[in-house]
Amino acid sequence: MKQGDRPVVITGNWKMYKTIEQAVEFIKELIPAVKDTTARIYLGVPFTAIKSAADAAKGSNIVIGAQNVHNAAEGAFTGEIATVMLVEAGAQFVILGHSERRRLFHETNEMINKKMERAIQDNLQPTLCVGESAEERNQQQTEQVLATQLKECLAGFKSAQLKNLILAYEPVWAIGTGQTATPEIAQNISLYCRSWLEENIGKRVAQSTLIQYGGSVNPGNAKELLDQPDVDGLLVGGACLSVEAFSKIVNVI
Ligand code: PGA
Repeated sequence: MKQGDRPVVITGNWKMYKTIEQAVEFIKELIPAVKDTTARIYLGVPFTAIKSAADAAKGSNIVIGAQNVHNAAEGAFTGEIATVMLVEAGAQFVILGHSERRRLFHETNEMINKKMERAIQDNLQPTLCVGESAEERNQQQTEQVLATQLKECLAGFKSAQLKNLILAYEPVWAIGTGQTATPEIAQNISLYCRSWLEENIGKRVAQSTLIQYGGSVNPGNAKELLDQPDVDGLLVGGACLSVEAFSKIVNVI
């Protein structure tokens, strides 16, 4: 537990990896490897594997979620997926605004804000991703960029709606590059985000929001990142694809 009774949540983001068969096999191996942890384990899995993954994880400490959702309840949106479909399949959370979605699929803060609204309304816990690019960091714009992302992605929400918020600070320059943020950067930016929440949404949300760090997390750097008082968890990409590496990360706490 962190300050303010916040649990530690370690999320694995599988991205576009793992078939149904591979997902089920992974979860069967992961369950005994992480049974003693006090952390909550979340897995963001591909749409096709959600149902089987949720069935395989039943009764364990592993929570299954999705990596994206459309903002409409339903409709003529070829190729998209609705919250009710994800919830029916067994998803309990959704990753929103990942930098790959922003960069490769042109998601804007405004679109992410609408997805957040839908997810919250339909009881899908949102993990909102924010983070600056290398260029923005070099130009000392990190806090300004984060403030804009937070302001626009969280526009219009009342504090009660955000009580289950997970916020993932994922500097774009650290994702998939092996260039992990230092624990100091992870702590400073997490604290900045928490202060922003306190000033702009309210004290309660600032205290309850779980702030994760993501970007080249591995078994060697997980502990020092999690030791930071305002880092409540980790969002792991590459290192969550093997049971060995992911369970090592989970078991550092
Ligand atoms: P990475 O990805 O751990 O491979 O850097 C993190 C993420 O994209 O969430």
